[in-house]
Amino acid sequence: MLIKRNPIKRSPMNNEHKSSDIIHAVVVAAGKGERSGLALPKQFQSIAGKPLVRHSVEQFLLHERIAKLWIVIGPDQGHLLSSALEGLQDFEIVDGGDTRQQSVLNGLLSIEKSGGCDQVLIHDAARPFLDHAMIDLLCITLQTSEGAIPVLPVVDTIIEDDENLLGATLNRDLLRRVQTPQAFQFDMLLAAHKMRRQNTNATDDAQLFQAVGHQVALVEGDEKLRKYTVPDDFTEQMNMTVTRTGMGFDVHQLGLGKELWLGGVQIDHEKGLIGHSDADVLLHALTDALLGTVGGGDIGDHFPPSDPQWKNASSDKFVKFAVEFISRKGASINNVDMTLMCEAPKIKPYREAICRNIAGLLNIPPSHVSVKATTTEGLGFTGRREGIAAQAIATISMAGELK
Ligand code: CTP
Ligand code: MG
Repeated sequence: MLIKRNPIKRSPMNNEHKSSDIIHAVVVAAGKGERSGLALPKQFQSIAGKPLVRHSVEQFLLHERIAKLWIVIGPDQGHLLSSALEGLQDFEIVDGGDTRQQSVLNGLLSIEKSGGCDQVLIHDAARPFLDHAMIDLLCITLQTSEGAIPVLPVVDTIIEDDENLLGATLNRDLLRRVQTPQAFQFDMLLAAHKMRRQNTNATDDAQLFQAVGHQVALVEGDEKLRKYTVPDDFTEQMNMTVTRTGMGFDVHQLGLGKELWLGGVQIDHEKGLIGHSDADVLLHALTDALLGTVGGGDIGDHFPPSDPQWKNASSDKFVKFAVEFISRKGASINNVDMTLMCEAPKIKPYREAICRNIAGLLNIPPSHVSVKATTTEGLGFTGRREGIAAQAIATISMAGELK
């Protein structure tokens, strides 16, 4: 039975909901990617702006239910992984084996050695476009199941090849395509793997789990979670990213006795901007532009000015929040462009420092960040030096449409 993408009740385990369960995730990335025909093992190939393995790793690292992430890699892949995951932290690296099954077992044994966990999600690095909705669905299903896997229906007619002649036609209504992550009660999966060590033909963990007598619930899979395997997956997919833009605008009043912060850089000026936070008008416009790329509301929705905790807050917090918000949707930032409107101070001497600081906040190269400034020819509130205005635009890439 296929389960819709909303929580379901089934109870082979009679378990009560335990949100305190400790859930670990294992990403297996120790393969050679031979069928892909690529020079590089496919998990390190760049897709939609980042290495394949980085997409799912980011989703697990950002998900609050995942207590620890284990990444299994092959011999001599350490340097490839470090460059693929540059800037990320809080994961453990495990040596893989000759088969996928062995790689998973190595991951499970490392978890066991570290003290174990309650439940575990096993995921192929070769399926980059994992989202939080899928992780949520699997975690919820596990509360009442021994195991849970995402599956999709089969749309083509499926036949057996009888030595190049048409063999039997299978009943596709009964067939499903199986994906990862696959989610299990940890102790049960570890025992299943240990018991079936010699069976090296299993292409996934659910088969082993079922072979030792456990039940696996089916949940509705996601077409975006398809596995990258053959050369066509890479050429065709490279062109399948969607580009989105967002814009932001902000104004703050200038006043005496205040520090002036623009783009996270302190500027030498006789006046500073007045606001609830540090009033960094440029970072506020940028935050709104970033949120706008994914329809994420505006800065005031997430950080209400009425909330005392944001009093004098450093505005890089708002930008970092927006960056994480976008990442959770599986998108990556391409570039940002900003314009400051003020008669004074002169922005040019600070421009490079501002670009470098913003690039660091967004985790993109400084060449992808542009900051410009203009006067308004003495006109309006900016012309009268009463305040500073800022505009920002941001562009992101993501695989497929926003959900
Ligand atoms: N995998 C692994 N250890 C292995 C073999 C595979 O961790 N010894 C991982 C792969 O890195 C991949 C996942 O298992 O994320 C699914 O395997 P597959 O798609 O077959 O990847 P590869 O084995 O790398 O590809 P190929 O079979 O074409 O060589
Ligand atoms: Mg393989």
